Parts: sequence; C-alpha cells; structure tokens
Amino acid sequence: MDKNKIIRYLAPFAIVGIIIIFILNVITHGSIQHPGKSTYQSRCAQCHGDNGEGIKALTPPLFQADLPVQHFDSLPCWIKFGMNHSIKVNGIDYDQPMYPNEVDEIQTANVINFMCQEFFNYDTTVNSIWVKQKWKDCE
Ligand code: HEC
Repeated sequence: MDKNKIIRYLAPFAIVGIIIIFILNVITHGSIQHPGKSTYQSRCAQCHGDNGEGIKALTPPLFQADLPVQHFDSLPCWIKFGMNHSIKVNGIDYDQPMYPNEVDEIQTANVINFMCQEFFNYDTTVNSIWVKQKWKDCE
C-alpha cells in the first residue's frame, strides 16, 4: 500500500476523532463544576450531607443555615481548626465537636464560595488572601 492510500484510508477516522473530541469538550465545559465542590464532597459531605442537610441532632445543617452568615468571618477558623462549643443553628442546639480539617487556603476559599452559592444563598466571594488573614486571628 502506498503512502497516499494509507492517508486516504485514515482520513475519515481522523475527522471522526476530531469531532468526538470537540463534542466531549463542549459537554465537559458546559457542565464544569464549582472548584469547591470536590473539597466539599471529600471533606465535609460525610458529616454535613451532600446537600448540606446535616445529620439529625449530630451535625448541624449548612443548607440555609443562619449561623455561618452571621459569623461569616469565623468560617476559615472553623473549617481549618474545627469547633468545639455548643452552637445554635436555625434555632436548634448542637454540641458535637467538629474536628480540624487538613485544608490549605485555596481549598478553604473555594469551599466557602461553594457553600455561599449552594447553601447560604449569600452573594459573596472570598479569596485565599482573605482566608490567610482570618487564620491569623483564630483562637
Ligand atoms: C466529622 C464530622 C464533620 C466534618 C468532616 C465537618 N464538619 Fe462541620 N461541623 C460538624 C459538627 C459536629 C459541627 C458542630 C460543632 C459544634 O457544635 O461545636 C459542625 C459545624 C460546622 C459549621 C457551623 C455550623 C453550621 O452548620 O452552620 C460550619 C459552617 C461547618 N461545620 C462547615 C464545615 C465544612 C466546610 C467542612 C469541610 C471542610 C466541615 N464542616 C467538615 C461536623 C463535621
């Protein structure tokens, strides 16, 4: 088989391949997920639930929770260093400890932004510089 024949034989496959890659690209970019979602799912969802619903009397909800918005500046400290005092969320008392999380400032900022958008309905975005600033004042 000479060279030209090989090229002519392979050309249709190459075109179909390019079209498939193009379509996949459109699909993945069309449904690109929030950068905080993977951190939320791997580090928070086991306690707070996939949709931030919490676990009965054990873990407080994040979905439509009043406390995180009222104490917004404390979120970076709570997320990194955990929490161990009784709190009231949407009128219900909780006092199980939340353990510290191994998160960096970027993951923390992303997860806060994810929660603002998905759970708190709070129109704010934070960045890693803000998170680091807040970490300086954690008790
Ligand atoms: C081991 C289970 C557990 C994990 C994992 C966990 N939490 Fe919590 N979280 C709790 C508990 C329990 C409380 C209540 C703490 C208290 O009463 O002192 C809490 C409280 C909170 C609060 C304040 C109360 C509320 O519901 O609004 C926020 C905000 C929060 N967690 C966010 C997060 C985020 C973000 C992550 C992931 C980075 C996370 N938590 C991971 C168990 C957990």
